[in-house]
Amino acid sequence: MLSLSLISFLLLQIFSINCLSFDDMEDSFFEIKIDRDDPNKLFKEFEDFIVKYKRVYKDEIEKKFRYEQYVRTHNRVQKLNEKVEKLGHDTKYGINKFSDRTKDEINSLFSKYGPSNTSNVPMLDLNNLRVKREVEHLPKSFNLRNKKVGGRYVIGPVKNQGNCSCCWAFAATALAEVALSVHMKKLIVRLSESLYVEHSIFQTLSDQEVCDCAAPHGPGCSGALPTDGLEYIKNTGLATDTEYPYNENRSLVAGRCDAHNHDRELNPYTLVYGGIDPFNAEHLITRALFNQNVPVAVAFRTSQTFAYYKEGILELQDCLESEENHWHSGIIVGYGKTINSKGREVEYWDFKNSWDNDWGDSGYARIVRSQDWCNIESYGVGAYIPEE
Ligand SMILES: *[C@@H]1O[C@H](CO)[C@@H](O)[C@H](O)[C@H]1NC(C)=O
Ligand SMILES: *[C@@H]1O[C@H](CO)[C@@H](O)[C@H](O)[C@H]1NC(C)=O
Ligand SMILES: *[C@@H]1O[C@H](CO)[C@@H](O)[C@H](O)[C@H]1NC(C)=O
Repeated sequence: MLSLSLISFLLLQIFSINCLSFDDMEDSFFEIKIDRDDPNKLFKEFEDFIVKYKRVYKDEIEKKFRYEQYVRTHNRVQKLNEKVEKLGHDTKYGINKFSDRTKDEINSLFSKYGPSNTSNVPMLDLNNLRVKREVEHLPKSFNLRNKKVGGRYVIGPVKNQGNCSCCWAFAATALAEVALSVHMKKLIVRLSESLYVEHSIFQTLSDQEVCDCAAPHGPGCSGALPTDGLEYIKNTGLATDTEYPYNENRSLVAGRCDAHNHDRELNPYTLVYGGIDPFNAEHLITRALFNQNVPVAVAFRTSQTFAYYKEGILELQDCLESEENHWHSGIIVGYGKTINSKGREVEYWDFKNSWDNDWGDSGYARIVRSQDWCNIESYGVGAYIPEE
């Protein structure tokens, strides 16, 4: 007990000197709300964090530095939760695997390239698809995660991009995977049972191939958009994940594309993709999900608070206050409407991220719908494999 108090005291001493050099004083250490009955509570929580997330810091200096980040995150999360509570949102921000990272380290997870850095994308015409009239009556909520086609779930497990900012590649691959899966089922119905057996395992396609080969601005880990990935997949097809596995460090440098050494699971000129008209996005996205059973890839503005999301429906648009050009991508897999815990009716999207299932709500987030939250509805992309 005594030694813990002493450590905390010493740490606070060090931080009160350091913290003068920090850019934003709002996160100042002086604001820690010390629990009188348990003054070491935060430090004990940090020790639990170290165990839970298997942190190995190289020395005491790094440990102190990481504790400092942890306390800043703790303070931010507390303020955010108070802020959204007042606004009647039911979002919960919390401590997670990113909590000992600095602002810059969190920002490095995001793409530096947004829609203005990429050429225009052709619009997707969902009207060209044969759709039975009766299914035009869309249900109030629908989630592709619960959907099975041919006896297996169409949405695969949550993936992990690690420290490389190739969210865009994961979003493109996710779209291609589901389109392939849904298409194979259709083929199965039309062709033979043997094909069904052959393809009864969900094929996860290669995010690494897309990240290595499709980045238009240098290394895949510096970022791009889902449409960059989809354009590549359209022209080149794609290997499976097992064939061309993911490594977060591989695309830190450009020029490592190794597609020609890997068999194609998805053939070139098979996938059709296109942008979703932003003026009718809500309807078109729900329609793609329910009628075509394919997700919609999205790119949106982001800020570091997104990393602290834990559960509930995200409504705060603090991305707009961010001075920097940071974008993130993922896929929308469902939509719904609910009365939140504050008694407000809120419409939302179910968003699948690529930060593993220990982020957010088991790897997913709910994001407010039909408000173009952080431009999430402005740059949607759909994809499908046409039946011949
Ligand atoms: C990822 O980045 C964080 C902070 O930037 C660092 O602490 C961590 O060690 C990195 N992980 C790997 C596997 O490189
Ligand atoms: C992308 O475009 C934006 C807006 O035009 C610009 O501010 C930004 O610097 C560009 N990003 C890069 C990395 O070139
Ligand atoms: C990536 O590089 C970091 C730092 O060198 C290392 O800690 C990490 O294990 C590497 N990740 C993979 C998947 O090889």
